[in-house]
Amino acid sequence: MPQRIGRFISLEGSEGVGKTTNIGVISQLLEARDIPFVCTREPGGTPLAESLRDAMLTQRAERVDALTELLLVFAARMQHLENLIKPALARGEWVICDRFTDASYAYQGYGRGLALERIALLEEWVQDGLQPDLTLILDLDPTLAEQRMRARAKDRMESEQLEFYQRVRSGYLARAVTSERYKVIDAGQTMDAVAAAIEVQLTACISDWQTRP
Ligand SMILES: Nc1ncnc2c1ncn2[C@@H]1O[C@H](COP(=O)(O)OP(=O)(O)OP(=O)(O)O)[C@@H](O)[C@H]1O
Ligand SMILES: [Mg+2]
Repeated sequence: MPQRIGRFISLEGSEGVGKTTNIGVISQLLEARDIPFVCTREPGGTPLAESLRDAMLTQRAERVDALTELLLVFAARMQHLENLIKPALARGEWVICDRFTDASYAYQGYGRGLALERIALLEEWVQDGLQPDLTLILDLDPTLAEQRMRARAKDRMESEQLEFYQRVRSGYLARAVTSERYKVIDAGQTMDAVAAAIEVQLTACISDWQTRP
């Protein structure tokens, strides 16, 4: 029997919505079902892509052009796809990714104001049609997310103003209505309720994978 290709799941939402927390929830669900998986993140996931992440997020005196930021993210994404994501999927492993291209639309597009068509061109070039099978958008009022994050030192992205995060949130919600692969999760619920909502989506994804490899 040919090797079943893994499923590709991305988690989206701005800082403090609970992505890392719920990657833990997803890991436990997959482990319980003996499904092999790898957890990774963007920007990052390979040594070079992690260096590009550092370059992008470091606080610096020099003004960083929004298009430079976008190109850094897509350069990291190319490396991540070729060296980690595609090989893992081909081995039959699931890939659980903390942010993917929807974040480029939300942050550099809606947040920074870059033309969405420009992002779509890079997406087509770098991904060549490859998209996550399921994208969980954790949706939370940025004021509440900020409260959850208050104790942490801020990187260059996290130092943006509240209005920036409101644009990012509206960007994610605008994307959510464009494809069936998006599932919006109310991240303002208790941790248990969020985990339960994620379990529903993941269980459906597992059933689909088992019946339609
Ligand atoms: N449903 C929830 N209710 C209350 N607190 C939560 C909930 N989910 C996560 N938290 C807490 O909020 C904080 C941020 O969560 P987490 O680190 O998972 O967010 P994140 O989306 O990964 O953030 P970042 O984008 O900065 O990595 C943590 O302290 C976490 O314990
Ligand atoms: Mg996180």
